[in-house]
Amino acid sequence: MRKRIPIIAGNWKMHLTAAEAVQLVDGIHYGLPFPGDVDVIVAPPFLSLPGMANHLRESYIGIAAQNLHFEDQGAFTGECSGKQVKDAGADYVIVGHSERRQYFAETDEIINKKIKASYRNSLVPILCIGETLEERERGEVSAIIGRQLAVGLLDVPGPEAARLIIAYEPVWAIGTGKTALPGQVEDVHRLIRVSLALKYGGLVADAVRILYGGSVKPSNSKELLTLPNVDGALVGGASLKAPDFIEIIKSTG
Ligand code: PGA
Repeated sequence: MRKRIPIIAGNWKMHLTAAEAVQLVDGIHYGLPFPGDVDVIVAPPFLSLPGMANHLRESYIGIAAQNLHFEDQGAFTGECSGKQVKDAGADYVIVGHSERRQYFAETDEIINKKIKASYRNSLVPILCIGETLEERERGEVSAIIGRQLAVGLLDVPGPEAARLIIAYEPVWAIGTGKTALPGQVEDVHRLIRVSLALKYGGLVADAVRILYGGSVKPSNSKELLTLPNVDGALVGGASLKAPDFIEIIKSTG
């Protein structure tokens, strides 16, 4: 199997002022000057993107936006397009986070348009998928994951899919302190890999990096990040504290 470089991405959500953001990334950069073979990404709120991009020019830390609109411009008050996000200095963008699906009514169809807008604007999408607790209890995990992948990636060609990052985030594990068990995580990650192989072939499936997200912290990151089909983590709460984020980055090595 091809060795994939792991990714540790911090999703800051609606936290931190511009000054606090600078303090946090300085804490990460100077606290861990040589991260080794790992891609480190932070996802600040839109307003901090240009400042962060400028501040991190000489750093190993990459930048993701947390969202984008699927059109490149137009009368969409309060939104930001992929074109603007790219212009602001982001190279990645989180698409379809469960909070967007839950609070902002994002459907798989909308998410598919956003995935295409990401590629159109040379942004690498981090596609978030995952089931709710009720769906898991009803035994629907594979059906939900299958649908989110099939619709989310509709008409996305193989060469683009090969650059995709997927984050499996069971909704019941996000911000709750409840982490999925390693066995549950590996099962779903394998399912995602197999679904990608069926759609795109083994080479593309092998290239896609599949992150786990949901209450990842220093105390559980090692056992999650060493699972065969887990290629990193999307971290919420613990990404807001430099020492915790650094510990999680180190546990990939
Ligand atoms: P959490 O959030 O680590 O705070 O559970 C993860 C996420 O929402 O990406």
